[in-house]
Amino acid sequence: MDYETIQVSKEGMIGTITLNRPQAMNALSNKLVTELISALADFEKDEGVRCLVITGSEKAFSAGADIKEMAGMTAVQMTMTGHFFPLWDKVGRYPKPIVGALSGFVLGGGLELAMSFDVLVASETAQFGQPEIDIGVMPGGGGTQRLTRAVGKYKAMEMILTGERIGAEEAKTLGLVSRVVPKESYLEEAKKVANEIASKSPVAVRHAKMAINKAFEMGLGGGIDFERELFYLLFASEDKNEGMNAFMEKRKPAFKGK
Ligand code: CAA
Repeated sequence: MDYETIQVSKEGMIGTITLNRPQAMNALSNKLVTELISALADFEKDEGVRCLVITGSEKAFSAGADIKEMAGMTAVQMTMTGHFFPLWDKVGRYPKPIVGALSGFVLGGGLELAMSFDVLVASETAQFGQPEIDIGVMPGGGGTQRLTRAVGKYKAMEMILTGERIGAEEAKTLGLVSRVVPKESYLEEAKKVANEIASKSPVAVRHAKMAINKAFEMGLGGGIDFERELFYLLFASEDKNEGMNAFMEKRKPAFKGK
């Protein structure tokens, strides 16, 4: 499918989506959001794709929601259209793992989008922030919740109430990203991680992702019960037999997602 604001490609078991509005720092326009949802839905259905990489440009992963489009919106229009809710919902419940390859500006809705991915690889040039306060609003795509869970109350308060940006190394120290690499290799590194994940059992990966995400929604007891049920369930998969047999036969497993 041809898109205007994103580029989509497939290499082996990895699907890559590249945000592509260079004239607007990859700001999330309505068109981009619609195209992103459509590409996510296609990769979700594609059984050959086991892991996604979502990236932007070296200059900007995304500078957030498109302010020029939002400027004329009323509260009633925001409510009645749900604004970007279909995107947050799609990506927040996405069953396949998503690796974010982040460089340059990762701001506002761009950071909120990234925080709903599963593994974040950042270029040393990446800058993270929730600057909505500077334009008289506040994060509206999960930022107050996900940033607070990632970096704790006090840093989240500082970032959201002042709009200050932090660099990649600080983001890593705070636990906001998992890896920081030189700017030449952030995309390659993200694809490396994605390929590593894609080589595992897709059934086990999917359930492990679901269980980790429950840590943010449930208390410890409920989360551990949920994890145990998923763990038992995996013993019904062919991949469990393949993985354990391969270990005993001293060979590499060939997982099929069954
Ligand atoms: N929306 C629309 N256009 C944007 C944009 C955005 N979020 N961010 C950048 N652009 C546009 C600029 O208007 C400019 O376009 P023109 O050339 O037509 O003027 C172009 O991208 C380049 O930007 P700058 O000239 O500003 O580049 P810079 O290097 O000086 O600054 C920047 C880069 C720091 C990212 C700055 O553009 C900026 O602060 N952008 C806004 C960031 C922001 O406030 N994001 C939050 C949006 S609200 C949100 O996301 C709500 C939510 O939670 C869902």
